[in-house]
Amino acid sequence: MKITIINGPNLNLLGTRETDIYGSQNFESYLDSLKSLFENVDIDYFQSNIEGEIINFIQNSKNSDGIILNAAAYTHTSVGIADAVKSIECKVVEVHISNTFSREEFRHNSYLSPVVDGIIIGFGLDSYRLALESILKGE
Ligand code: DQA
Repeated sequence: MKITIINGPNLNLLGTRETDIYGSQNFESYLDSLKSLFENVDIDYFQSNIEGEIINFIQNSKNSDGIILNAAAYTHTSVGIADAVKSIECKVVEVHISNTFSREEFRHNSYLSPVVDGIIIGFGLDSYRLALESILKGE
């Protein structure tokens, strides 16, 4: 089983960026704990601050068993990432660390939500584990 996690812009700064919203753990250490929780799952991880690189990676992940996608700020702006999600068959779960609906209004719109299989929002980094569980359950 291969699961792909794709993080968008500024998520490389988790742990130091707006810690009141995103917490103080960096993604690499969280990923280590996720990998030890799911030893039998091959978890592939990619982060980019560049929209086109994220689109390329989505296209190249079409053989994955599932994609966990936190497109960060591009969630609210990118028709290109939404089209890339539409172009592949594999399951895609949209994830957000913070509850975007309790924040500024521009974060309430997602170009991705209509085209993904499911959405997990607002559980901190645990949102990624919940997304992984849902893909493994195949629901
Ligand atoms: C985010 C929410 C986005 O609005 C924001 O631009 C991010 C992170 C989240 O995980 O809560 O960078 O996707």
